[in-house]
Amino acid sequence: MLDIEKKINDLLQEVNEAQLDNSSDLETFRIKFLGSKNILKPLFGELKSVPNEQKKEVGQQINSLKKSAQIKFDKTKEALESSSDDKEKIDFTRPGEPRKLGSRHPISVVRNEIISIFERIGYGVSEGPEIEDDWHNFSALNFPPEHPARDMQDTFFVEKGDKEMALRTHTSSVQVRVMENSKPPIRTISPGRVYRNEAISARAHCFFHQVEGLFIDKDVSFADLKQTLLYFAQEMFGKKAQIRLRPSYFPFTEPSAEVDVSCTICNGDGCNVCKYTGWLEILGCGMVDPNVLKASGIDTETYSGFAFGMGIERIAQLKYRVNDLRLYSENDVRFLEQFKSAF
Ligand code: DAH
Repeated sequence: MLDIEKKINDLLQEVNEAQLDNSSDLETFRIKFLGSKNILKPLFGELKSVPNEQKKEVGQQINSLKKSAQIKFDKTKEALESSSDDKEKIDFTRPGEPRKLGSRHPISVVRNEIISIFERIGYGVSEGPEIEDDWHNFSALNFPPEHPARDMQDTFFVEKGDKEMALRTHTSSVQVRVMENSKPPIRTISPGRVYRNEAISARAHCFFHQVEGLFIDKDVSFADLKQTLLYFAQEMFGKKAQIRLRPSYFPFTEPSAEVDVSCTICNGDGCNVCKYTGWLEILGCGMVDPNVLKASGIDTETYSGFAFGMGIERIAQLKYRVNDLRLYSENDVRFLEQFKSAF
């Protein structure tokens, strides 16, 4: 074998075995085998010294080496371009991926609605802590020391340092804080989460939400309370809604009442939701007991007031006809998504 033939063979092997993984490898290959100063050019010069009878054959070998290099280059280029197709070809006219919009939780929706209804008649919003002391949750609200609500079965007690505290069992505790910290006239609602030691079922939960209302001024009467609650019921459940008050008992109000609204489903005709009574219970209320006013330093000779408290879940259940309380805290997206249009 001629020297030149050996060179051609070696180069052919190099072409065939070249590993071209990216565009820079490919460019190096191009310069070496196909560029203006490529490695094959001197071979044509050497061809002159090849004996005549072999010239044709060796010439063909050089040409086919050149061809092989060109084919290798073309094929690799095509492969590299098609593999980077997806990354490089961005279609700017494609519509964007829609972002999923979240929605407000139904409890927030109802809470906001209650706040907005009372804001329209001059109520402000106040808040208090969820971990509460005995004074604000019970004593200042006229709960006698032996009252069953203080029992371990109803209240979650927690220790804070050496002080025994409780998770508030109602938002009435915020009433006390507002009275301690401000002077009448007072017009406030206090939304918030409350806790009770109850077994979880469709009808009860160990935490839920309430809105407390407190109105204190000169000459506040039971008629003011009733009118305020009628206004609330009609804003919340529609102009046709009626209310009725049933005598009840709470330690912090005297007299006390429970309030029913005419059934939102049958309008009072009787159905299985209102258990054929035509009425649904929505809240507790009453005139603030003078003991409670005194405990917070309010002059009972000059001032009187009323208070009310309602469960947000309860109102939401009636508004959205949801009968299982647990749905509000399970956060199943299929449930929550249904409130998208609510405000
Ligand atoms: N705190 C009461 C409860 O959790 C609800 C309540 C009733 C609040 C009467 C009041 C009220 O302000 O006057 O059951």
